[in-house]
Amino acid sequence: MRSLVEDMTNLTMLETQKLMIVKPQFVAIQSILEKACDEVRQIASAHEHKLTFAFREAPITVNVDPDKTVSVFVNLLNNAIRFSPRGSEIIVGVTQQGDRVMTWVQDHGIGIADDRLKKIFEEFYQAEPPSTRHYGGLGIGLTIAKGLVEAQGGKIWAESDGAGKGSTFKVLLPKA
Ligand SMILES: Nc1ncnc2c1ncn2[C@@H]1O[C@H](COP(=O)(O)OP(=O)(O)O)[C@@H](O)[C@H]1O
Ligand SMILES: [Mg+2]
Repeated sequence: MRSLVEDMTNLTMLETQKLMIVKPQFVAIQSILEKACDEVRQIASAHEHKLTFAFREAPITVNVDPDKTVSVFVNLLNNAIRFSPRGSEIIVGVTQQGDRVMTWVQDHGIGIADDRLKKIFEEFYQAEPPSTRHYGGLGIGLTIAKGLVEAQGGKIWAESDGAGKGSTFKVLLPKA
């Protein structure tokens, strides 16, 4: 059992390292967010969620791997969809902050307790105990997202006012 777990962990490490090879190019962050939204639109509408863009600015160029960065936001959006009640609003936003670009995915779902805001980025960590799980998933999405964001000089973290109060995942990326 133990070696099986070790094998799985090694596999994850290898896969993760491969995943972390990023090929940056100049691209508008808005187009990345739009692509990510396009990928989850069907599942969002199946849950009657409303996907809202909070983009007020002209295109902001970042220097990131487009596909991998899209996958980061797809991950955040899928989580927002899964951990929110049917028919709620999910807001995707972007704004400029000096030499950085702040993006966020905000939901009105189950929220995250204060002491778990950091832990959820750890490998295999899921806030819900396995015995009562009804959300599925593997608990590695955020770990990979964090690795990818940090490999590109960015930062990712979660904010929440607590259980039932929704969550906001923020991603800070350097401007090109
Ligand atoms: N939008 C969210 N709202 C509430 N909890 C969340 C949200 N996103 C992630 N979480 C918590 O973080 C855990 C880890 O997320 P993730 O790494 O994507 O794994 P998975 O989605 O496979 O469970 C989730 O199991 C959940 O407990
Ligand atoms: Mg996930």
